[in-house]
Amino acid sequence: MQDAYKKYRDLDDGAVATYIPELGKANGGHFGIAVATVDGDVFTAGDWDSEFTIQSICKPFAFQMALEEFGRDATLQRVGVEPSGDAFNSIELDPRTMRPYNPMINAGAIAVSSLIKKSPVEDGVNAFLDKMGRAAGRELRIDQSVLFSESVTGNRNRAMAYLMLNCGIIDPRVDDAVYQYFSQCSMLVHCRDLAMMAATLANMGRNPVSKERVFDFQYIKDVLTVMFTCGLYDYAGEWAYRVGLPAKSGVGGGIIAVVNRQLGIAVYSPKLDEKDNSVRGIAVCKELAAHLGLHAFEFANVGSSFMQWLKEE
Ligand code: DON
Repeated sequence: MQDAYKKYRDLDDGAVATYIPELGKANGGHFGIAVATVDGDVFTAGDWDSEFTIQSICKPFAFQMALEEFGRDATLQRVGVEPSGDAFNSIELDPRTMRPYNPMINAGAIAVSSLIKKSPVEDGVNAFLDKMGRAAGRELRIDQSVLFSESVTGNRNRAMAYLMLNCGIIDPRVDDAVYQYFSQCSMLVHCRDLAMMAATLANMGRNPVSKERVFDFQYIKDVLTVMFTCGLYDYAGEWAYRVGLPAKSGVGGGIIAVVNRQLGIAVYSPKLDEKDNSVRGIAVCKELAAHLGLHAFEFANVGSSFMQWLKEE
């Protein structure tokens, strides 16, 4: 991990997201990594404790919450599990079912937020904060300036929500659904939080440090599956091929990857590529996956004696 940090510290490609003006204030030089094991060890490098907004990395966790509260059938009536291969903000529903394609794109995430919102709406936001705080291992909060900025500039998301209201996917409390979604995206985290949240998924729902059961394990495979197939939008296939781990990126510059039953990995670096994924985040995950043999279909760690034996064969 330290080697990967040093190798990519000087990589300066990409640009900070500006379509939400408040995100444009991020320090493009920031670069942090954290890796948490299911045994509760945490390894960190660089700006691992710099806070940023979770953005789309909230989506798999919100999907988990919807599955826990409503079960598979009711949740999947409102959102599919099919990769769209489109950008995160594409305005498209499955023409057959009128559902959004999956919970990782904005439309699907808004359908999920509509499900888990509460009345009054702050109760739903607090339930999300509480659950994420238990996964991260510390109390988390909303960045109110980012929330305001998201809300002022979020008309494309509102348009999707109204389209889904028209198609009977969400109920008429459209503003509340969108508020829940914007609030989730505006939650502040640092790399250690995200690594611990990812490790909680890897650890079948139990926080590796507090040992608290945070997530219902029966739905974790649902969440990891959509992370694997849809977590990086129109880069999802390439990601599955090159890194081979369930993952999720966000326009705040964060990215998480889950090594099932082993590790949670988090990288933060706010400069994004043309597909809105963190440039250094992708580079570090590729490096760690290749070096440690983390790809889901890897035979063994590259340095292992089994691998050596295979090569000799
Ligand atoms: O919906 C939005 O515009 C953002 N709040 C979240 C988008 C995001 O992080 C997309 N991910 N790469």
